[in-house]
Amino acid sequence: MAIPVSYVVLNSADNDWDQVWIGANIATMAGAQPYGSMDNAAVAVKGERIAWLGDAAEGRRLARAQDVAIHEAEGLWITPGLIDCHTHLVYGGDRVAEFEQRLCGVSYEDIARAGGGIQSTVRATRSATHESLYESARTRLECLMSEGVTTVEIKSGYGLELGAERRLLEVARELGETLPVSVKKTFLGLHSLPPEFAAQRRRFVDDVSGPWLTALAAAGLVDAVDGFCEGIAFSVSETGQLLRAAQELGIAAHVHAGQLSDLGAAQLAAQYAALSADHLEYVGADGVRAMAAAGTVAVLLPTAYFTLRQTTPPPIALLREAGIPLAVATDCNPGTSPCTSILLALCMACTLFGLTPEEALAGATRNAARALGLLAEVGTIEVGKRADLAFWRIERPAQLCYGLGANPCAAVMYRGKIRGENT
Ligand code: NIG
Ligand code: FE
Repeated sequence: MAIPVSYVVLNSADNDWDQVWIGANIATMAGAQPYGSMDNAAVAVKGERIAWLGDAAEGRRLARAQDVAIHEAEGLWITPGLIDCHTHLVYGGDRVAEFEQRLCGVSYEDIARAGGGIQSTVRATRSATHESLYESARTRLECLMSEGVTTVEIKSGYGLELGAERRLLEVARELGETLPVSVKKTFLGLHSLPPEFAAQRRRFVDDVSGPWLTALAAAGLVDAVDGFCEGIAFSVSETGQLLRAAQELGIAAHVHAGQLSDLGAAQLAAQYAALSADHLEYVGADGVRAMAAAGTVAVLLPTAYFTLRQTTPPPIALLREAGIPLAVATDCNPGTSPCTSILLALCMACTLFGLTPEEALAGATRNAARALGLLAEVGTIEVGKRADLAFWRIERPAQLCYGLGANPCAAVMYRGKIRGENT
């Protein structure tokens, strides 16, 4: 990726910084200013960390006193690396035929009840090789990364047998090991009841919450659990069983809550202090109050809402009033959100849900970090945090939410290294 910089090395005995970017506009997403923005600023990096932040002239003065690579940012905007905190990125096959069916009037629920939907992706995923799962997921992940994504959450949930779930989580881990992006792995054990357990519902929930979770966690493959709490999936008490088991093991949780109906899943997420409750088209005042008290983040998934052509958006005013942090993610999956663009998700969070561009950008930075339990490490540009940064050719930050298909990303820095350059 070409980036307009001039590169000078100055000599001095000091060596506090490895590189400094001077003359950028920085949306720190921290502090009282809109977007936490700093005009004509500088950011210095040492190793993997942000070492200094301040105005351009001061940055230049300090840089000249030491042996440091100076990059002229020439008015680029710098934001925290974007965080996609809800994806189902690893799967086999596609669901194009169902897309056509839905447009001929068959509902998502009807397709699911007839053994299509998630089950059709489970069949395609079980019969796919590890290599093909890795390659197709990598292609999708590269799209997200080209738009400034530096951290991604990846859920399992299309295997639904222990070996196949393990494989999905191993592919997620391998993506994090072979690409510079940071990956959080979520065991979505309760996604859909697989046919071989059709007559043994309780047994399936017991297995997922017991031996499967224990085995996958012991293999270091589970950063968090998740359950699809919905009429066509799992009840509040079944999802609660998985959340309780996770809590006993000290494992964090997310919940697919209120996507199609309000079963009380938001209250359940709050009861187990889940990091996030996701979707939330159908949540009432009680659920919102419970989430606020528990500090549970609301993850909004506008591209899924769009794909399902839903008409009841999440109650944004209620969530805002309660002070609940709002995150925005792609929900990348073959059924309800075949979306590999975090910028499109930001755009739709504004146009479909009425978020301000600043709220939307906070949703894919600061609040997405919080939804993954990573706010101490990433999500804002602050000294000491990981140097995961996105560089943009834009005039103002709202432009990141404005385009439908534009990608103004000039470069991405992962842990202090610009991808594709020898910095
Ligand atoms: O987040 N709601 C459950 N899971 C996915 C959809 C999965 C699918 O249809 O394959 C979602 O929308
Ligand atoms: Fe999802």
